[in-house]
Amino acid sequence: MSRVYIFDTTLRDGEQTPGVSLNVEEKLEIARQLARLQVDVIEAGFPVASPGDFAATKAIAAEIKGPVIAALARATARDIEQAAAALQQAPKPLIHTFIATSPIHMEYKLRKKPEEVLKMAEEAVRCARGFAPDVEFSAEDATRSDWAFLAEVLSAAIEAGATRINVPDTVGYATPGEYRKLIGYLKEKVRGIEHSRVSVHCHNDLGMAVANSLAALEAGANQVECTINGLGERAGNASLEEIVMALATRQDIYGLQTSIRTEQIYRTSRLVSSLTGVPVQPNKAIIGENAFAHEAGIHQDGFLKARSTYEIMTPQSVGLPQSRLVLGKHSGRHAFRERLRELGYILTDQDLEKAFQRFIDLADKKKEVSDRDLEALLKEELITIPESFTLDYLHVSSGNRTVPTATVRLVWGEKHLEEAACGSGPLDAVYRAIDRASGLMVQLESYSLQAVTGGKDALGEVTVRIAANGSGYIGRGVSTDIIEASAKAYVHALNKLVDDRGRDLGQGKQAWEQGKQAREGV
Ligand code: KIV
Ligand code: ZN
Repeated sequence: MSRVYIFDTTLRDGEQTPGVSLNVEEKLEIARQLARLQVDVIEAGFPVASPGDFAATKAIAAEIKGPVIAALARATARDIEQAAAALQQAPKPLIHTFIATSPIHMEYKLRKKPEEVLKMAEEAVRCARGFAPDVEFSAEDATRSDWAFLAEVLSAAIEAGATRINVPDTVGYATPGEYRKLIGYLKEKVRGIEHSRVSVHCHNDLGMAVANSLAALEAGANQVECTINGLGERAGNASLEEIVMALATRQDIYGLQTSIRTEQIYRTSRLVSSLTGVPVQPNKAIIGENAFAHEAGIHQDGFLKARSTYEIMTPQSVGLPQSRLVLGKHSGRHAFRERLRELGYILTDQDLEKAFQRFIDLADKKKEVSDRDLEALLKEELITIPESFTLDYLHVSSGNRTVPTATVRLVWGEKHLEEAACGSGPLDAVYRAIDRASGLMVQLESYSLQAVTGGKDALGEVTVRIAANGSGYIGRGVSTDIIEASAKAYVHALNKLVDDRGRDLGQGKQAWEQGKQAREGV
């Protein structure tokens, strides 16, 4: 199988991501991880750009063994000398020099004639070769250049000593078919190209950076320049993880090999994201939070029967411990039962059905139901206190300029017990209204509220302790609405009290009538 060389430019082009700036220690940390990932080349920086870039390139060149360490330089003696100075201690230095070859760049940016650009390219490569045996020449904006002129410049660069030539799609303008053709054309026309590494460097302005890079490999390019998480100027560069995993997963198509230890991909991605402060979008291929997550019931069912139904690579192959079955409103019973089994709960079919209905209600309110949510639900579901009272309706009004008021309706057998009350706060109002509706005289001894899971849509778990006639009763309630959770906890405790007293429906009704009379002062 032929080899493709991975040239990582996270620390150079990636650092050109708007808003990103890494210090020397942070760049070193990323470089160490890139070495663990086993990239072939680390482009450490653009030394002439700033003292910080110089220092970081120098530190990486001094410490990192294994990969080739590259430094960028425009086609001027000063840039090249700075790059060479920063790379002095690198065991395998690479000077990467570039000049633009497109009419737009030559006319408006460089204000130079094509012949001048050709001469500058040759001189730059020759100068760089005076410092290092390995020199890459890039024709910036190659894809918008005249093809014949581009071939001329690249031939001259090779003749001047370039060991690698790069064909950047600087503004992400190319299409895969066009780029494939361009590489094929250059392989035919550039003199000495067979002795040079042929590199591609694609930007993602039209979202085609990875597709373009892969098309170029099909046409015979053998080095890809890319970044972790696809960081880079504007819309970014081709993402390393996508290219590497496309080559690994579709070896049948590409028949190409890289040196990358793919199990280090996830770790590298996390490190780069945390040090740059650029989050990875959840649906990002390979390393996004959802890349190995399944939510739809049909998918979960298929996945549980055979993982290959919905996964074309394993999460372990990119360094993730496992796939995720996301329990949400699209999930089915199969995944629900499986997750409960993993959590150690084996329920009867009847209990499972009950718990599943509660889960679906919760999933309707909450985007994702976590393990802690499930445990909280089960705690409620598995404590089987006969429900004398059920909370049927709850309405609360509260604010900084209103008297907190609550209306509740409890169902007791066939009876609907509806009451309203005011309180010092919304909870006080709810508990007073429940007291009235239930007709039971109890004391609230303690109240605690805990967020069962993180996030704004977390489940709240309320635990209350009530006392009546010298006995205490604990009740729990869970909901995304903490007032509802509080009401449920209180009603749960009341049900324990009622159960403890062995009241039947008639006695309860009698107690309620007595309470009502007492309230109304009859
Ligand atoms: O996008 C580009 O053209 C570059 C060159 C410096 C290689 O980053
Ligand atoms: Zn670039």
